[in-house]
Amino acid sequence: MAATASDTATLTLGDLSVNLPVVTGSEGEQAVDITSLREKTKLVTLDPGLGNTASCFSKITYIDGERGILRYRGIPIETLVEKVMFVDVAYLLVHGTLPTAEERHNFSQLLNFNSLMHEDMRHFFDLFPHEAHPMHILATMINAMAAFYPNVDSQSLVENIDRATARVISIVRTMAAFVYKKSIGEPVVYPRHDLSYCANFLNMMFDSPVKPYQIRPETVRLLNILLILHADHEQNCSTTAVRVIGSAQVNLYATISAGISALSGPLHGGANQAVIEMLRMIQQDGDVGKFIRKAKDKDDPFRLMGFGHRVYKIYDPRAAIIRRECEAYLKTIHYCDPLLDVARRLEDAALADSYFIDRHLYPNVDFYSGILYRAMGIPENMFTAMFALARLPGWVAHWQEMIGSRTKIVRPRQVYIGKGLQTADVFPSKNPLLI
Ligand code: CMC
Repeated sequence: MAATASDTATLTLGDLSVNLPVVTGSEGEQAVDITSLREKTKLVTLDPGLGNTASCFSKITYIDGERGILRYRGIPIETLVEKVMFVDVAYLLVHGTLPTAEERHNFSQLLNFNSLMHEDMRHFFDLFPHEAHPMHILATMINAMAAFYPNVDSQSLVENIDRATARVISIVRTMAAFVYKKSIGEPVVYPRHDLSYCANFLNMMFDSPVKPYQIRPETVRLLNILLILHADHEQNCSTTAVRVIGSAQVNLYATISAGISALSGPLHGGANQAVIEMLRMIQQDGDVGKFIRKAKDKDDPFRLMGFGHRVYKIYDPRAAIIRRECEAYLKTIHYCDPLLDVARRLEDAALADSYFIDRHLYPNVDFYSGILYRAMGIPENMFTAMFALARLPGWVAHWQEMIGSRTKIVRPRQVYIGKGLQTADVFPSKNPLLI
């Protein structure tokens, strides 16, 4: 369903008055279309952080941040985590519908067919410093894919979007597991065609020649849930990076690499690792109240990691599912994580405090996910790489939508506040020694 032009907004500045169209989205949200504003008035709009700017039309993901709603292609995430697997959601995001049995079979074949990265790329892993962060390695490796898979012009990828999606999500899964194995000095484990997407990843991470990995169905189910919940989130920072870079008609791999780099920041995907570091700090200190006070202190850079969101002004629906699954999974595997108790106490204290209540700050997707990853045996420096793995289909879907809608190159304006024209006397007098 396309947005409809329904109304006009009138902007008045002094004697100047201009009518601007108002478009209405399929869920009723309205936007003033300012595309012609500068041409008509010489005015531009100012919106640092783009918090009040709809940068595109999109049919992929719907969020209602006031009501805590998140839907992919119209389907609530609560339903998706109950009924389908991550691979189905990847297909859904890119195609707009869930796959039929035949489409799913074909897509799974493509995932298997593309699961090996070019063998020469393996040598790259030897050259990174041992302590390099997996997100830095992944961003580099994905960028390098354009050199190894050169047939990446936008048109051919959009025409064969299944192959492009399968290649990206399958190879990056292999890369992520290789990064981990190299970091612990163990031999890499290759993907297997007889395993599902998530089981394959777990096997590549944890199988070893001396201790075969026992794949637990509950862990596979949980990984599917986590990946589904992170698979897309409309115009967040990394997806916007993908759209901006992609608008210059850069190849898909470079755009994904930009997405990974944006995601690595602690205010975005990097928050999942930062949450665990924070919880450990609180556990060692023992005083939850002290950290609540620090988070409220404007002179202290400390923030509650995993709290707050640009769009959600209510409990993040992903965090609600993750918290529920976290408690259930830890019980199932008889694992007691003291950080879960710290997280619960911190959440309770924050949600009872007027600072957080007044600013509508609730746990976000990153608050409990790290505790689950820990319970699955995934090391902390891999948490954000897990987020990246999950977000790949979302990035591909947005890239495809952006290419398909023939987006102009993204090139915002600015309000210049620097110096006026400088005259010749600003140059330092010539140094006689240099003449
Ligand atoms: N702890 C303490 N105060 C906070 C926090 C927090 N986590 N988040 C926001 N605030 C305060 C902020 O200081 C400001 O207060 P005031 O109005 O008095 O100046 C107010 O709440 C609004 O915050 P903002 O920074 O203007 O909000 P934003 O929409 O620009 O930022 C955010 C959103 C997610 C970057 C921010 O809430 C934050 O830094 N959270 C911690 C990092 C985090 O968990 N990031 C993961 C985000 S969700 C997953 C993802 O996108 O990857």
